[in-house]
Amino acid sequence: MSKRIGILTGGGDCPGLNAVIRAVVLHADRLGWQVVGVEDGFTGMYEQRYQDLTPRSVAQLISRGGTVLGSSNRANPFAYPIKVPGGEEIRDVSDECLANLGRLGLEALILVGGDGTMSIGQQLMAKGLKVVGVPKTIDNDLEATEYTVGFQTSVEVASDAIDRLHTTAESHDRIIICEVMGRYAGWIAMEAGLAGAADVILIPEIDYDCSEIVGHLRRKHEGRDTYSIIVVAEGAKPKGGELSVLRKGDVTQQERLGGAGQRLADQLRDHVDYDIRVSVLGHILRGGTPCAFDRLLATRFGAKAIDLLREGRFGEVAALRAGEIVSAPMSEAVAKLKRVDPDGDLVHAARALGVHLG
Ligand code: F6P
Repeated sequence: MSKRIGILTGGGDCPGLNAVIRAVVLHADRLGWQVVGVEDGFTGMYEQRYQDLTPRSVAQLISRGGTVLGSSNRANPFAYPIKVPGGEEIRDVSDECLANLGRLGLEALILVGGDGTMSIGQQLMAKGLKVVGVPKTIDNDLEATEYTVGFQTSVEVASDAIDRLHTTAESHDRIIICEVMGRYAGWIAMEAGLAGAADVILIPEIDYDCSEIVGHLRRKHEGRDTYSIIVVAEGAKPKGGELSVLRKGDVTQQERLGGAGQRLADQLRDHVDYDIRVSVLGHILRGGTPCAFDRLLATRFGAKAIDLLREGRFGEVAALRAGEIVSAPMSEAVAKLKRVDPDGDLVHAARALGVHLG
């Protein structure tokens, strides 16, 4: 008998999601399985919006950014915002969602997501749904895997942007602060900052001291250097200070970070009279064509997700460890954030080259 399975992309999008969808559909098709795509993450599960996915419909997807299924980083079946007269009410609609999937005749669901999506997956599993996961996020902060789909592309895009900031900063003898996403992990800042030869890299894992940055810049600019590039993660904060938050989180959504670059510029301007500019890369890091590494990782993860279903290994996620595709318990993907190790080799290499880390 042919199986019918579902796939859903949840949370913030990233390059490589479509490549995962393609791999899942192509592998499933070779086994004679049908794949149904749930639209807009868990929203489509509640609103019963689906699309049939076939080898033909995914044919051109490997290089396409975003997700053809759509995504939502607010829809959680266990705390779902429902419009009511005069506002919104938060309800647990998980039973309705599961009943909807039951009516579709789905035997299992592949969740392509980050920690939020995987936590929801675990709760749905506790209610009887068979799920497996594919880890994706530009933040690369899932403990279960060395790399998540989307991360390498964001590093490529950020390091290219930093290269460009070098030439304009040099022309105008400026300090340019480049703010990158990454939430509470400094992976994008650290890797793109090193690849882009930044002078200062500030990450959430190492709180910075503004006076030490000032000292570093003075020493540098009193020598032969006429400009500097500072890469700051959106989750970086000064010693004893708070995260720079644009919007507080609530039960339906995480807090929104932003402004760390501008805050640093304001702090520096109190101490130095260099010409300072701030460039915030934001969602540019999430959009567009996935790099070859992400296409390949997405393809390997997508194929692995089908293998996990075939082997009945529900509650596991595809993972990359020491270059091999393996699987890990979904609980491991959400247990704790994977963050840059302040004593690890990336930090060591940066310090060895004289990069100031705050
Ligand atoms: O988790 C991915 C991410 O891009 C973070 O790096 C960033 O803080 C957040 O999502 C932005 O979310 P939104 O798209 O809701 O602004």
